[in-house]
Amino acid sequence: MEIFISKSESETVKRGKEFAQQLHAGSLVALYGDLGAGKTQFVKGICEAFEVKEVVNSPTFTIVNEYHGTLPVFHIDLYRMKNVDEILNIGFDEYLESGGVCLVEWAEKLDGILPEKRFDVRMSVIDNSTRGISIAFMNGNS
Ligand SMILES: Nc1ncnc2c1ncn2[C@@H]1O[C@H](COP(=O)(O)OP(=O)(O)O)[C@@H](O)[C@H]1O
Ligand SMILES: [Mg+2]
Repeated sequence: MEIFISKSESETVKRGKEFAQQLHAGSLVALYGDLGAGKTQFVKGICEAFEVKEVVNSPTFTIVNEYHGTLPVFHIDLYRMKNVDEILNIGFDEYLESGGVCLVEWAEKLDGILPEKRFDVRMSVIDNSTRGISIAFMNGNS
């Protein structure tokens, strides 16, 4: 597991961009942390790495934003989802199997049913401009 302290929004974006070097078609990134923890900023950095030209922000009403970069990037925000059934109804499994990169905010809502092979990115608020970021690669063996 890697742990970083980010001192600014732009540093979080940069961390996301660097982290993205480890991603490829079919990768799943589960992002955890409270509102304002910086999940979407981190996603922006990942999207930069894939040369996404669309505006990246939390898909509040749409649940899923699809971006077109060097790979398809699915940015899924489960904040408003009430339960697992509702999430599966948006076609969550198809996104996972689409061969794109899936970035899932509020992944805690899928606790226990996410594929075991994934990255877990946990973000926490330390103070106004400081965030903690932990990154772990899960492969189902631990
Ligand atoms: N070190 C930091 N990293 C990321 N965001 C930060 C940081 N410091 C302050 N912020 C602010 O926190 C907010 C994070 O928002 P956002 O990424 O949308 O959070 P989330 O998607 O987790 O709800 C932004 O307003 C951003 O400017
Ligand atoms: Mg967000």
